[in-house]
Amino acid sequence: MALQKTGGKLTTYEIDAGRAAAARANFKKAGLADIITVVEGDAHEKLTQFKDSVDIVFLDADKEGYLDYLNKLLPLLRPGGLIIAHNITPGSADPRYIEAITTNPGLETIVRSGVSLTLKKR
Ligand SMILES: C[S@@+](CC[C@H](N)C(=O)[O-])C[C@H]1O[C@@H](n2cnc3c(N)ncnc32)[C@H](O)[C@@H]1O
Repeated sequence: MALQKTGGKLTTYEIDAGRAAAARANFKKAGLADIITVVEGDAHEKLTQFKDSVDIVFLDADKEGYLDYLNKLLPLLRPGGLIIAHNITPGSADPRYIEAITTNPGLETIVRSGVSLTLKKR
């Protein structure tokens, strides 16, 4: 709803047709259908068609896919942009993702309560 004030847009990906339909219906009911685009399908494939600049990424889909999402979205993320990832807990998080967000000198990451917050510095 804050995006109504900032003029921002949100794109979300959902592989499950039922959940995508429920999300679309709820966004419409909330009066946000013109701000939020629900893309149905495998985000790993669908993301390759996304070309816009991105301010914030929120990862909460397949945990083993986080590194691929990072690699695909980092070039689109503007400097100063954020990548927020859920379920960054030992045993749940993909260690390759943790390594990528903590060893890249262009990124700064903190992890709190199972959520990682990564800033793209440049
Ligand atoms: C933990 S839920 C997301 C919950 C959501 N962030 C919320 O707060 O309501 C993960 C979702 O990711 C979807 N998902 C899993 N793998 C996916 C993929 N490869 N592409 C798109 N969606 C995927 C699942 O179907 C599921 O609905």
